[in-house]
Order: sequence, then structure tokens, then C-alpha cells
Amino acid sequence: MKTIIELRGLTKKINGRTIVDDIHLSIKEGEVFGLLGPNGAGKTTTIRMMVGLIKPSQGDVQIAGYSVKKSFEKAIENIGAVVENPEMYSYLTGYENLVHFSRMHKGIKKKRMLEVIQLVGLEERIHDKVKTYSLGMRQRLGLAQALLHKPKVLILDEPTNGLDPAGIREMRDYLNHLAHEENIAVIVSSHLLSEMEKMCDRIAIMNKGCLVGVESVEGIVRGKEQKWLIYIDDVKKAERILNENTFIHTSDDSSITLKAKREDIPFVVHALVNEGCNIYEISPVKKASLEEEFLMLTGGVQ
Ligand SMILES: Nc1ncnc2c1ncn2[C@@H]1O[C@H](COP(=O)(O)OP(=O)(O)O)[C@@H](O)[C@H]1O
Ligand SMILES: [Mg+2]
Repeated sequence: MKTIIELRGLTKKINGRTIVDDIHLSIKEGEVFGLLGPNGAGKTTTIRMMVGLIKPSQGDVQIAGYSVKKSFEKAIENIGAVVENPEMYSYLTGYENLVHFSRMHKGIKKKRMLEVIQLVGLEERIHDKVKTYSLGMRQRLGLAQALLHKPKVLILDEPTNGLDPAGIREMRDYLNHLAHEENIAVIVSSHLLSEMEKMCDRIAIMNKGCLVGVESVEGIVRGKEQKWLIYIDDVKKAERILNENTFIHTSDDSSITLKAKREDIPFVVHALVNEGCNIYEISPVKKASLEEEFLMLTGGVQ
């Protein structure tokens, strides 16, 4: 899968306060990527920089190879977004709203309008006035509008806010379809872990403006990688050996915690023993669920 959008040291300071702090991320075509964090974590600010609504204080966003800083229009062309409440004219029909938005981009044909209307399932109500729409229908119209110009990246800030469970499920199905069938990179934000777990292929956890970690949902939920605790005589030496191949999580005077797949463990043991380290014990650390991990990272559990 090709990387389509890259955040490079993205930072936002407002009145001397750092609201988004040096975020690095790569997001690929065909994945649903989640930005998860409690309210105030900096998700909306990050998204606003990604879609060009505000300028980064430092860092850059590369979209389809174009820098938002240096080639703003070329970069932003690839993005469709719904940030905060999509602006819609409630006294116009859904269709008239789409016509209005289609004028903002070159070359959107009627055929494309019909395509997106069908994609979001609004065929039957598209000629009704928006003021008669439910919140879910408005969200879908927002989605249709964001998709009109066939963006490679779709960014939605808290797309399930205010939706009922059926609406959330529908939204999830659309986003899955867009990512997995149409190869669009879909980026969504939320403060709700359970939703993100179901919706996303990968999740980045944000807290207080910082990126705390990026995890593949499959990796965490289905347990591909896990943490291992190794008691060993020479921790410093072991760190040196392991750092070349694995990701050391934490260490203290007598032990190391690392992340690895089960099938890598013989390799780890071999590498350590070969260099003369004495291993006393290796055991899997009980794998935290994504929820526990999220709560731990964001300080929800003491
Ligand atoms: N324009 C602004 N001026 C001052 N502070 C802001 C501004 N925009 C956001 N913030 C602050 O930055 C922090 C992150 O906000 P936001 O990006 O909206 O977080 P999230 O979307 O994760 O809830 C919050 O503490 C918010 O009050
Ligand atoms: Mg927000």
C-alpha cells in the first residue's frame, strides 16, 4: 500500500501554548486510520492543519507528494473533508446543495453527482429540502459533498457524533467500502475507543497534543505482537543487541520489556545467548486490550 499523506513534525502553537506537538505520521491508501484521543487532545487542530484550514507553526503535511506549505492547491486537491459541522443550506434540497458545492471544483459532471448520491444512499431523499433531513442524512450529504471531486484522502472529524447506533454502523460500512473497495485513505477522529476499534485498521492515540502511539487494531486486538518480560544479567548489553532488531519498551536494572511476535522469541534468545548474556526468565506480559492501553496512555487509570 502506498503512503498518500504524511505528517512531518506537524506543530501548532497558539498564544505561546503548544496545542499540537511535533506529530509524525504516514497514512496509506486503502486504510481507515483513526485519530483517537480525549477531548482537547488536539485532534481537530491536527485535522484543520491537514485540510489547510489553518497553517502549521512548524512542520509540514505531504499529500500525494505535494507539500501543503509549498504547493497548497496541488496538495489540497487530493483531500475531501468534513470538519466540524458541514455547512449546508437547509432551505435548499440535498441535490441543490451538491450542485452548489460542485461549483467549487472544476469538471464535476452530473454523472459523478449521481454516483456519490448512490454511494451514500440518499437517492430517495436527495430532492427534499435539507431541513427535513435527520442528522444521519445530513452527515451522509456532507460525505457526498466531500467525495464529489474523487479525493484520494477523506478526512472526517468525529463523523459519528450525534448518530444513533444504526447510523454509526452505516457510517462504518461506507467508510470501510471507501477504503477497502475504492482505495481511498480514510482518516477519522473520535474520543470513543470502542467505535474506533470497530471502524479502523490502524489507530494513532493522541493526548495533550502529542502522539502517544500508533497501533494496528489487528495487532492489538488479535494479538499478533505482544510484550515479553526478560530477566537478564546484563541489561545494557542486551539493550544494545536488541535495539538493532526489536523495539525495547522499557527496562530496569534486571529486566527488559520488549514487543515481539511469538515466532521472534527464539531469535531474540539466540541473539542474547550468542553475545554471552545470561537469561533467567522470559514470560509474556498479559496483553492489555486496546482499551486498557488507551486509558493507561491518557491517564485514565492510576
Ligand atoms: N483557536 C484556538 N485558540 C486557542 N486555543 C485553542 C484553539 N483551538 C484549539 N484550542 C485548544 O487546543 C486544545 C486542543 O483542541 P482540539 O484540537 O479542538 O482538541 P480535540 O479535537 O482533540 O478535542 C484544546 O485545549 C483547545 O481549547
Ligand atoms: Mg475535536
